[in-house]
Amino acid sequence: MKPDEFRKHAHDLVDWMVGYLENVEKFPVKSPVGPGDIFNKIPDKPPEHAEPFSNLMRDLDEIIMPGITHWQNPNFFAYFPANTSPPSILAEMIISALGAQCMIWETSPAAAELEEKMMIWLRDMIGLPSGFEGVIQDSASTATLAAILTAREKKSGFSINTEGAKHSGTLRVYCSDQTHSSVEKAVKISGIGRKNLVKIPVRDDFSLDPQKLKTEITSDIKNGHIPCCVVATLGTTGTTAVDPLKEIGEICKENDLWLHVDAAMAGTALILSEFQWMLDGRELIDSFVFNPHKWMFTNFDCTAYFVKDAATLIRTFEILPEYLKTRTRGKVNDYRDWGVPLGRRFRALKLWSVIRSYGTEGLREKIRYHISIAKQLSLMISNEADFEILAPVVISVVCFRFKPAGFNEEQINGLNERLNHLLNDSGKLYLSHTVLNGKYTLRMVTAQTNVTLEHVEKAWALIIKTARSLNS
Ligand SMILES: Cc1ncc(COP(=O)(O)O)c(C=O)c1O
Repeated sequence: MKPDEFRKHAHDLVDWMVGYLENVEKFPVKSPVGPGDIFNKIPDKPPEHAEPFSNLMRDLDEIIMPGITHWQNPNFFAYFPANTSPPSILAEMIISALGAQCMIWETSPAAAELEEKMMIWLRDMIGLPSGFEGVIQDSASTATLAAILTAREKKSGFSINTEGAKHSGTLRVYCSDQTHSSVEKAVKISGIGRKNLVKIPVRDDFSLDPQKLKTEITSDIKNGHIPCCVVATLGTTGTTAVDPLKEIGEICKENDLWLHVDAAMAGTALILSEFQWMLDGRELIDSFVFNPHKWMFTNFDCTAYFVKDAATLIRTFEILPEYLKTRTRGKVNDYRDWGVPLGRRFRALKLWSVIRSYGTEGLREKIRYHISIAKQLSLMISNEADFEILAPVVISVVCFRFKPAGFNEEQINGLNERLNHLLNDSGKLYLSHTVLNGKYTLRMVTAQTNVTLEHVEKAWALIIKTARSLNS
């Protein structure tokens, strides 16, 4: 593609992007296609000869768009969000054009140094202590894997990295039974073994019960196991419950355990002074992860991972082949040593663009608004006798179900499952679900970049109408 053609297509594409975002509410939120629909429309063989880019744009509209679920539609209330924003998209365009691979400082000093500075900005914005250092990872799952591997190495005196996992059978990791599955995945692939992940029961508000944690650790020590790490969650995936950090941290300190904190979604709420209570006990944390790519208007992927002791992280991951030896080594941050991948994208540019474009006050305003509309939704739900709220509303997630009189628990579960499918198939909104104490639970997340109270009110009206039609 010649520069002039590139310029023309790029300009057209910007128009396409703006048009898409302006009209995103007109698309069905959840893609209605079935398995294989898209696959079967794509030729089995690649073209022998060059095609004009306009063919691709035509097929984008005709083949691809029907198979897209519109995460940027403000009626997307499912899972946790994967928010974009215009400043973040613009930064992604710059990142693509630069095409820099930022594995070490020398392969783009600006990328390494902007990353270092952005991690300081974020650390201070969320209130982590000043000794913490950060690195951008692709996902919270990768950061949690890094944390578990670092904890494992610290506990084994860095012997498993060298000798293999032969000693790891007795290491134990602890988390609540509401913890995200990425922890189990990390324990599984770190060689610790999923049998050695101890899931601690939760209290009524779905937060980890520290007394039960203490009992499990004491009993494991008696039985010859080696407690290694606790993962506490600020904002669990199901209900956004907040584990009691200080009490958990004290137990970790007494028993010399690594404390990793997963704040993938709720970490963004820490930019609000009224949510700083979640970090009470912060001085006891060893590692901490949160995802600007969820709630902080920064395109997927962008995960912020912080550690109290960067040297231990680096010792766990460092490997130094000849071709990566540089004269600046030791004087700068070579982020390839701070996690699993060697190659790294220039993700710091997205954070720079988002934080400067909104300003920290602008970010706080939007996050506060999302939290306020969740509270208003929970009031609307509480006002209806045939609905019930199933978990405390902490940030921007409301867990509820339809509970008409005259049905048993199994029938109510069935009704709510049908309700969920009917709503999602309508294309007008998208909800996801969880199961709490055996109850099929609808989750509504009011955290999409452009969601407003009006969207929530309209969605709620549709939920009530659809639910009652099931019961008539
Ligand atoms: C609490 C929590 N931790 C971790 C993750 C995994 O995030 P990622 O997709 O960045 O790996 C999620 C995903 O929703 C989550 O809710």
